[in-house]
This record gives sequence, structure tokens and C-alpha cells, in this order.
Amino acid sequence: MATVLYITAHPLDPQSSYSLAVGKEFIEAYREANPKDEVVHLDLYKENIPQFDADVLRGWENLRSGSSFDQLTDAEKSKVARLEAVVDQFVAADKYVYVSPMWNFMIPPVLKAYTDATSIPGKTSRYTENGPEGLLNGKKVLHIQASGSVYSEGPLAPLEMGYNYLNKVLQFYGIQSIEAIFVEGTALKSQEQAPAIKEKGCLTSHERRIRYCRFLGREKYSSKRS
Ligand SMILES: Cc1cc2nc3c(=O)[nH]c(=O)nc-3n(C[C@H](O)[C@H](O)[C@H](O)COP(=O)(O)O)c2cc1C
Repeated sequence: MATVLYITAHPLDPQSSYSLAVGKEFIEAYREANPKDEVVHLDLYKENIPQFDADVLRGWENLRSGSSFDQLTDAEKSKVARLEAVVDQFVAADKYVYVSPMWNFMIPPVLKAYTDATSIPGKTSRYTENGPEGLLNGKKVLHIQASGSVYSEGPLAPLEMGYNYLNKVLQFYGIQSIEAIFVEGTALKSQEQAPAIKEKGCLTSHERRIRYCRFLGREKYSSKRS
């Protein structure tokens, strides 16, 4: 049995969001194809993910300098302990499905905060005599990202820093199997274009869903809905 973290970084619901709609469709198909796997949904807008503020940095520094956990302030204790629980949950999982909208060419700040929380030396990577080394070899990732314009090709491609950022960080953790579903061009306003764009995103999702159920699961895809 594998544990899948379904990590959503969107304040709205699937009726109002392309990325969440595709994510929901995908994770339902995944559950159907892999009923024995445990899927844990982390809605980053509801989770407590401490930012790296003065309590966190001072708490860590105090621990590094030899203070015991009990000697930290209450704020330092709760944030440091929570951050440790977040990264431990991440490390314990086998597969990750990230869902995010593109905002200003990037992932939303809650996902950046979560990525900070999972980028902990000694947990997801370590420094050796030969340089940094990822500790999450063999894990798998799918990133579903919606964007108003098109970035997978064309003149805007160099501006894409959402998927590319996450991809580089996850590679730094040692994860090599990283796939993506891009739901692109959702902000193209033309009345005629809009339904086709949405359909393209969902059709692409449907086709890729089959592929990624195989990618994420052990069994071949089978679904009453396909
Ligand atoms: C705050 C904000 C910033 C955005 N920045 C970008 C951007 O940099 N590039 C882009 O192509 N679309 C941008 N968009 C449009 C969204 O990427 C687009 O609406 C996409 O469909 C969002 O995903 P969703 O449908 O899951 O909400 C932005 C939207 C918002 C609300």
C-alpha cells in the first residue's frame, strides 16, 4: 500500500478552478485504480504551515547552539515542532500530486511556504563531501498547473517559474519521476475559445489521467468512466 499526498494550493473549489477540477478528476480516478492506497489531502489554505519567521529561525538557531527543546519559547516550540511534523509527513509518503494555479509566473505563496517546510537538510536532502545529495530517491510526483497563458511552448516559455521551480526543488530531493499536466490558456477571453480551452484542458487531463494512473499506480488503468 502506497501513501499519496494530494497537495492543493488553491483558495477556491473545483467548480471555480481549472487546476482543482483536473486535480479532482485525477485523484478520483487514482483512488478507483488504486483502492488500497491511502490518499491524504493537504489543502494548504487550511493547513497550518508556519512561515520562516523570527520564532522559527531563532528556535532552530537555539537548538543548534545546544539549547534543549524545553528551553525554547512557546512560539518557537510550536512552530519548530509543527514544521518537523510537516516534513516528516512528507518524507513518509511515497507519491505526491501537487495542484496549483500559476500566479505571477510562479506557484502561490502557500505552496512556496510548504516547499520551504519540506526543504529541510537531513530530511529531504543532505550535504556530503561530494556536495548535496537527495534523500527521496524512488518517489514519484505529478504536478497539475493551470495558467492564463501558454508556457509549455512559445514566447512566454522562459517566464514559467511555477512548474520549473517545483521541479528543480523536487530533483534536489532526489526525485527523478516528475510529470506534469498543464491546463494552459485559461484566460484567453474569446467567447468562442473559452469552451474549447476548458475542454482541451479536461480532455488532456482525461488522456493523461490514464497514463498517470499507470505512472502513479502499480496496476493498469481501468475505469467504468473511460
Ligand atoms: C493573482 C493572479 C495572478 C496570475 N498570474 C498569472 C500569470 O503570471 N500568468 C498567467 O498566464 N496567468 C496568470 N493568472 C491567471 C491564472 O493562472 C489562470 O486564471 C488559471 O486558470 C488559474 O488557475 P485556476 O483556474 O485553477 O484558478 C493569474 C491569476 C491570478 C488570480
